[in-house]
Amino acid sequence: MSPFGGRGTLAAFLSLLCCQGSGEKAFEGPEHLMVGSGEFQVINCTASCTDPTTLALETALNKTLLENQVQWKLFKVYNISKDEELLCSFTCDGRQETKVFNITVFYPPKQVLLTLSPTSVAVGTLFTIECRVPAVAPLGGLTVTLLRGTKILYNQTIVGTAPSPQDAVVTHNTTAHREDAHHNFLCEAQMDLRSRGGGLVHRVSDPQRLEVKEPVPNSQMVIIIAIVVVLLLLFVTFVLLCFVFSQKWHRGRTGHYSVYATWRRLKGSHRAQPL
Ligand SMILES: *[C@@H]1O[C@H](CO)[C@@H](O)[C@H](O)[C@H]1NC(C)=O
Ligand SMILES: *[C@@H]1O[C@H](CO)[C@@H](O)[C@H](O)[C@H]1NC(C)=O
Ligand SMILES: *[C@@H]1O[C@H](CO)[C@@H](O)[C@H](O)[C@H]1NC(C)=O
Ligand SMILES: *[C@@H]1O[C@H](CO)[C@@H](O)[C@H](O)[C@H]1NC(C)=O
Ligand SMILES: *[C@@H]1O[C@H](CO)[C@@H](O)[C@H](O)[C@H]1NC(C)=O
Ligand SMILES: *[C@@H]1O[C@H](CO)[C@@H](O)[C@H](O)[C@H]1NC(C)=O
Repeated sequence: MSPFGGRGTLAAFLSLLCCQGSGEKAFEGPEHLMVGSGEFQVINCTASCTDPTTLALETALNKTLLENQVQWKLFKVYNISKDEELLCSFTCDGRQETKVFNITVFYPPKQVLLTLSPTSVAVGTLFTIECRVPAVAPLGGLTVTLLRGTKILYNQTIVGTAPSPQDAVVTHNTTAHREDAHHNFLCEAQMDLRSRGGGLVHRVSDPQRLEVKEPVPNSQMVIIIAIVVVLLLLFVTFVLLCFVFSQKWHRGRTGHYSVYATWRRLKGSHRAQPL
């Protein structure tokens, strides 16, 4: 992010004012700056006239003077940890004037933590992708995108405001596909500060892999299969037993007849003999 953003247009604006020679200073709002927590900001404190008698930057923060010219001074303000208003004051033609630099501290995404749970899933079953971005502010406007390779699986732009830094958490449930095993899962956090005078801050998580297994039959299925097999076995056994018994009974009956017939035949031949 350039600390000198918009300075060129400001200079043009100021030179336009001074060269018009109106003598009246047009109302000028504060310049809004976004500074990462604990970072520094370079401030160009420029007077509206070419020969200011005093030129200073008023702040309780630690600062150093980087460059000193007649019409402007360049300061480096250190260790900015909360929202501040810096006052650039100068005296032109005996009149004291000020310019406000309104500094808003933001907490950029320093870490993007991606977790897949479980890390090992069967094809067609659900798994959860969770992305956590710790201690970010402002939360509103933060976009969290979940990716598989380069494909966007899910994205969410967080709405609302929170005064203090908070964790942004985005979760997405999805079913596992075979090709999921061949790609990296990533989470991307993007903080858009453009509407507040800042830039785009972008950070990506470490890649994560998903282990995808072939589906295994569940225990219910196993029990059903076992019951079917047992019933089938019982049925086959019953049929076999029926068959065996019917054969036996049949053979028993025919056996009896044959014995009876033989006996009759024998009896007949005995009787026939003496005749
Ligand atoms: C500070 O601002 C003045 C006026 O806008 C400009 O002429 C000068 O070059 C700036 N200094 C730096 C170091 O940018
Ligand atoms: C300014 O810096 C000095 C020494 O480097 C330090 O002792 C002091 O606490 C700092 N003040 C602020 C407001 O950070
Ligand atoms: C920066 O500010 C923090 C809190 O305001 C303070 O604890 C720390 O000592 C400061 N660091 C420096 C180098 O001034
Ligand atoms: C400075 O910015 C903050 C937040 O952006 C805002 O609440 C405050 O009113 C601004 N101050 C001025 C003087 O513009
Ligand atoms: C979010 O995803 C949708 C499609 O799923 C896409 O059109 C949109 O551009 C994405 N937004 C961002 C910020 O990536
Ligand atoms: C994802 O699934 C878990 C349980 O498996 C559930 O607690 C959670 O609410 C789901 N999340 C979403 C975003 O659907």
